[in-house]
Amino acid sequence: MQQDRIRYQPLLKKITDPVTAARHIKDGTNLFISGFTAGYPKLIPKELAKRAKEGENFKINLFAGASTGDAVDRLLAEADVVNWRRPYMSDPVMRNMINEGEIAFKDDHLSSLASLVRSGDWGDAHVAVVEAVAITEKGALVPTMSVGNTPTYVKVAEKIIVELSNSEPPELAGIHDIFIPEDPPYRMPIPIYRAADRIGKPFIDMDPNRVVAILFHDEQDSCPVFTAPDRISQRIAEQILDFVRHEIKRGRLPNGLPWQAGVGHVGNAVLGGFMEDSFFDNLELYSEVLQDSVLDLIDMGKVRAASGSALTLSQKARNRFFNELYRYREKIVLRPVEISNSPEIISRLGVLAINTAMEIDIYGQANSTHVMGSHMMNGIGGSGDYMRNGAITFMVTPSTAKEGRISAIVPMVPHVDHSEHSVDVIVTENGLVDTRPLTPKQTAAQIINKCAHPDYRDILWDYYQRALKQRGGHEPQLLSEVFSFHERFMKTGDMRINIPK
Ligand code: COA
Repeated sequence: MQQDRIRYQPLLKKITDPVTAARHIKDGTNLFISGFTAGYPKLIPKELAKRAKEGENFKINLFAGASTGDAVDRLLAEADVVNWRRPYMSDPVMRNMINEGEIAFKDDHLSSLASLVRSGDWGDAHVAVVEAVAITEKGALVPTMSVGNTPTYVKVAEKIIVELSNSEPPELAGIHDIFIPEDPPYRMPIPIYRAADRIGKPFIDMDPNRVVAILFHDEQDSCPVFTAPDRISQRIAEQILDFVRHEIKRGRLPNGLPWQAGVGHVGNAVLGGFMEDSFFDNLELYSEVLQDSVLDLIDMGKVRAASGSALTLSQKARNRFFNELYRYREKIVLRPVEISNSPEIISRLGVLAINTAMEIDIYGQANSTHVMGSHMMNGIGGSGDYMRNGAITFMVTPSTAKEGRISAIVPMVPHVDHSEHSVDVIVTENGLVDTRPLTPKQTAAQIINKCAHPDYRDILWDYYQRALKQRGGHEPQLLSEVFSFHERFMKTGDMRINIPK
């Protein structure tokens, strides 16, 4: 029943079809959409792609919460209708177009976006297209499986198009905690003291007068489903858990700090590790994207609270989640990304942060975004928010990529996302180095000996020894060959071959 989902009667007359609704989006429109791996609009992107296919010539500037997958980023990139895209994306087609200069892209920290939009830094917010499960009696929005930047987009947009999803139950209401902080200089401390704290409303305030169209759909998010962790991810996760357990037992780290685990195999392996480890109990997660494994941990009674900005579930986990929503809703809080990733809160709660790099250098700087220093992969996402502000920050990577032809430990990263000052502990499947008590030279020696793949230890050690001898200083580097590993790969396809001396 449409009235069950639209409880604010005057808005019933705004129900329309995608063709009519999408007419509000034209050449040059700044389009602000919901979506943060999940919870993205399903109908309007299809309609825009269809218009382009039929020959209409137009480009939009597309702003989301984070990645939106095949149904938005892939579709609109293939339709060639995207002029600008901000922030994080992870679609291969869009990635290629960004690297070819066909789509403009700026890589922002996810925590900063909402206030940049409110300040007008992203230009006028012409149209917001947001997915919701319901519109309340007073015209407020209940979002679906993510919050992302939707509260701010709805607040500032000149026109709002709502896509009501029939695939998620209205009983999702109550899982969200919506709070928009004042912008500086009037911002007060954000009063979250534990991961479970709720400080806002369970809905997004919306001016119903700006709603120009309401659509209904039955479609579901298509979220990437992570397979069981491989041996490398498991080994990395085991070392992190051993390290934290050791630090707690030694009295150097309080028990009960919340965890953040970046999306992906290692994050999942860490959460999987909690299941088998009786030491870790009563866990709190203060993270960004929550996945299937969070439900498993809740079922095992191991999680006290899980806070994030999105719930990205496989089909199987979705069914389980909706069947027992009343139970999961008590433990899970979905927040705007400016709150889930707030530097202030991450720092105050003392989050233990785990994020993945593509490569790490011998002094501990990490590149998470640019392949061979030049080509955008996905973006920094929330990793910078957590790595700069966590109580202990873990940067993890398999020690090699591309079947061993690339070393993930290099003399100097050709692009820095996380400086040595933000990265505390470095972990590969071969070993873990806690850089906090080490000088840069001690760090270099340990990273080479413990973290690098055995195939690369000798050549890294050779480089480092020569840098030490020929150049010296606090962090010795040979500037003429600092990127020789990368150059070798680009010329021969294998970093192991004939490293120049
Ligand atoms: N040089 C070149 N390519 C590399 C590489 C390196 N040093 N390291 C990895 N790659 C390639 C892999 O070969 C793979 O390529 P493919 O897609 O052609 O197979 C691709 O990068 C992804 O690597 P993968 O090993 O599958 O790891 P992943 O899916 O865990 O992704 C990141 C790793 C770094 C790209 C990903 O974690 C990311 O985007 N991080 C930044 C954002 C972030 O941390 N968000 C979380 C905050 S909550």
